[in-house]
Amino acid sequence: MFYIGIDSGTQSTKAVVLDWESGAIVAHESKAYGLIGGLPAGHLEQDPADWIEAVRFTLSSCLEQLGSRRSEVRGIGVSGQQHGLVVLDQNDDVIRPAKLWCDTSTVEQCDQFAASFGGKDGLIARSGNVILPGYTIPKLLWLKQHEPDHFRRVRSVLLPHDYINFWLTGIKRMEYGDASGTGILNVRTREWDDELIDFVDPSVREMLPELGSSNVVHGTIRPELAAEWGIGNGVIVSAGGGDNMMGAIGTGNVSSGIITASFGTSGTLYGCSDKPIIDPVGEVAAFCDSTDHWLPLVCTMNVTVVTEQVRGWFGWDHSEMERQIASVVPGSEGVSFLPYLNGERTPNLPNGSGVLHGLNPASATPAHLARAAMEGATLGLGYGLQRFAALGLAPSEIRLTGGGSKSGVWRQIAADVFGVPVVSLATAEGAGLGGAIQAAYADGKGGYQDLCDRLVSLDESSRCEPDAGVSSLYQEKLKRQIILTETLKGAELL
Ligand code: XUL
Repeated sequence: MFYIGIDSGTQSTKAVVLDWESGAIVAHESKAYGLIGGLPAGHLEQDPADWIEAVRFTLSSCLEQLGSRRSEVRGIGVSGQQHGLVVLDQNDDVIRPAKLWCDTSTVEQCDQFAASFGGKDGLIARSGNVILPGYTIPKLLWLKQHEPDHFRRVRSVLLPHDYINFWLTGIKRMEYGDASGTGILNVRTREWDDELIDFVDPSVREMLPELGSSNVVHGTIRPELAAEWGIGNGVIVSAGGGDNMMGAIGTGNVSSGIITASFGTSGTLYGCSDKPIIDPVGEVAAFCDSTDHWLPLVCTMNVTVVTEQVRGWFGWDHSEMERQIASVVPGSEGVSFLPYLNGERTPNLPNGSGVLHGLNPASATPAHLARAAMEGATLGLGYGLQRFAALGLAPSEIRLTGGGSKSGVWRQIAADVFGVPVVSLATAEGAGLGGAIQAAYADGKGGYQDLCDRLVSLDESSRCEPDAGVSSLYQEKLKRQIILTETLKGAELL
């Protein structure tokens, strides 16, 4: 039998088919899409119809690859980019494009929340989290304040993966993991915070779908889709979750002690916990996971965004990029690239921009810029790891997932920046695999630990050990990155 995982990301949707008996990924497909062009700076939006088209394409292609064995598909699990705001009208039509996790246009709305609820401390005491521009609820307040006609028409608020689940099953529902990224979930009790909701508008309560456990079946595939795809009517859709929550499952991060780093469009660092982990300064997000536990998480907004930008400047393919970066010594001979191209969440610089520092005639080369970009993006997560350590989360090894984890030179930089061994998974599609495993769980195939022990494997050939000398050089470089950031921020230049 087969379980399908769908990862609806910011740059593409990927689907993988897991063969339950062998544990192998037997089919996969992806489809890329872009952001809506021509919007003001900081407004990052996508049309949910593009996600649906990509889900339809990738699923159909995977089923074609299965041929007549498609009748053995038992379940589907959906992973989606966290935090995006999908608003539906009374006919369940999408009212306007979705504002995404990387949209930073809601700084004012976040300030309004902070001013009314006792600042950072008040918000953390209330829900466990600060309200940041990436999160969902300031986007809804923004909609009310900037597009009141649209706001008046809203009958349902969904997150990206909820919307795909709705399209697949006809059922609207939120599970705790992705819901914790809205900013209005009290992560300690897993209940909505009524006063935060009222601050936007009391009508918002009616817009939110049923909230509940991530461990239950969301629904079954709509009969029209089952007929279109030639699969059984009883194929289940599990609760799904945000991409980091599903990445946690797909990297075997379902009990405390393991830390995963995801090098995708965003960079994230997360670990499973059996209790909420609340950061008193709010830099580590106190999210719930999608197995009814918790997922402390640090997110930076600029990881493959930056390396892909640099690769594009010089017209390199991935192996040329790898070769160029490997030709420069660790530390990039003093070149620092503050990677805040899209603004940044950690550190909180929603209006930030990228900065190059330390160039001289010898180091002003494409290869140095590329290495400095990769180092800068990784050092951002290195800072996150320091915050984890301050909360008592100190891993002895880090699992890497996401597109960036396929690069050998990047894995070594990661080991040296983190100061612990890193190892990739057999598949870089952690979130997609997580979706397939969650579908198997929802279909009663066993507990998460057993499922992950059998279905998630490390690629031992990818393991990189840190070099003590290079690690201390990177600690110095991280200090410089922090000083540059704080100095420029203090001068209102970031
Ligand atoms: C995490 C976050 C990003 C997105 C990327 O809080 O905003 O990692 O989930 O899709």
